[in-house]
Amino acid sequence: MNRLQRARGFHEDLVALRRDLHRNPELSFQEYRTAAQVAARLEALGYRVRRGVGITGVVGELGTGGGPVVAVRADMDALPIHEEGEHEYRSQVPGVMHACGHDAHVAALVGAARLLAEDFRAGRLPPGTLRLLFQPSEERMDSEGKSGAQRMVEDGAMEGVAAVVGLHVGGHLPSGKVFVKEGPLMAGSDEVKVVVRGKSAHAALPHEGVDSLVLAAQGILAVQQVVSRRISPMEHGVVTFGVVRGGVAPNVLAGEVTLSGTVRYFKGEVRERLHRGVREAFEGLRAQGAQVTVEFSQGNPPVVNHPAVTALGREAALRLVGPEGVWEAEPMMGAEDFAILARQAPGAFFWVGAALPEPREHHTPRFDLDEEILPLAAALLAEWAAELLARFPETT
Ligand code: NI
Repeated sequence: MNRLQRARGFHEDLVALRRDLHRNPELSFQEYRTAAQVAARLEALGYRVRRGVGITGVVGELGTGGGPVVAVRADMDALPIHEEGEHEYRSQVPGVMHACGHDAHVAALVGAARLLAEDFRAGRLPPGTLRLLFQPSEERMDSEGKSGAQRMVEDGAMEGVAAVVGLHVGGHLPSGKVFVKEGPLMAGSDEVKVVVRGKSAHAALPHEGVDSLVLAAQGILAVQQVVSRRISPMEHGVVTFGVVRGGVAPNVLAGEVTLSGTVRYFKGEVRERLHRGVREAFEGLRAQGAQVTVEFSQGNPPVVNHPAVTALGREAALRLVGPEGVWEAEPMMGAEDFAILARQAPGAFFWVGAALPEPREHHTPRFDLDEEILPLAAALLAEWAAELLARFPETT
């Protein structure tokens, strides 16, 4: 039996685990219950377990050493969204929901842990060490601007790692297909905060003040030309302002407006051009009497899949689902903090299609996924990890 057939043999257990996590979602850096469940399962399977890695993360290790360390990552956190689904496993926590499928990621990696532990005991694993990373807080950065991946790196989770892999389920992608791509897959993202300070006045005497709201609007429109006119048409970039706050009353000229937004890119050079363009679009408002500050905070770098790690993953996927089951992934402007792990060691990230007959969007109150893919996701992670142990060069 191959790993997929074996994983299908415990499909019900994977579904039960995913539903239990779905009923009991936990927000970023609060994944205590999830982490405890994972740690207990890993210990039962014979893994050496470290708890509290990166605040609420769990690391499980298996293997004999004497070969590469291969890391496999699953993120564990839920979102501050109130679930609207009617199914019996809907969230029991008001205002918190697994609306991105991280419950499925945890179940899949626990499934992979089981497959790999069986292989290890049967003497079928190549020499080396498997390191399973159950990561907190993919969705959110803490007050110091660090997400779960960064916190785990700081706690040594990536030390000595030769290669790192992970996957995301896609509620919008055809179920049971594995989406693979070498090179740029997901965008880097930074946040930008802009403050436009004018001068308040009576709304009927606009010439007595400096209308920060009108100026902010000009800035927002000017920014629309950054992507269209500052970067090559062959490159990819996004600038979106999602929050505008300002003003106190309908009859008062707004003295101050605060804007926050996101900048997305794949290449460092594009990123610099976007930053400069945003800065100039707003700083130009100073000529009209406003005080302006523009501040960027660094988010996730882009996910750029390593060629050799991707190739071994593609082979693993082909063995499990054949050529008709392996599709070329489209790069997207969404961001993923897996990129932080993949900066520490060669890494690659795949998508596994999990659309229901009526596909659901991630991060929405009715998100759900096709649980039939859980054995595939588990088998893919295990197969890929075993392949890397056998064939990926050891780091020195
Ligand atoms: Ni996600």
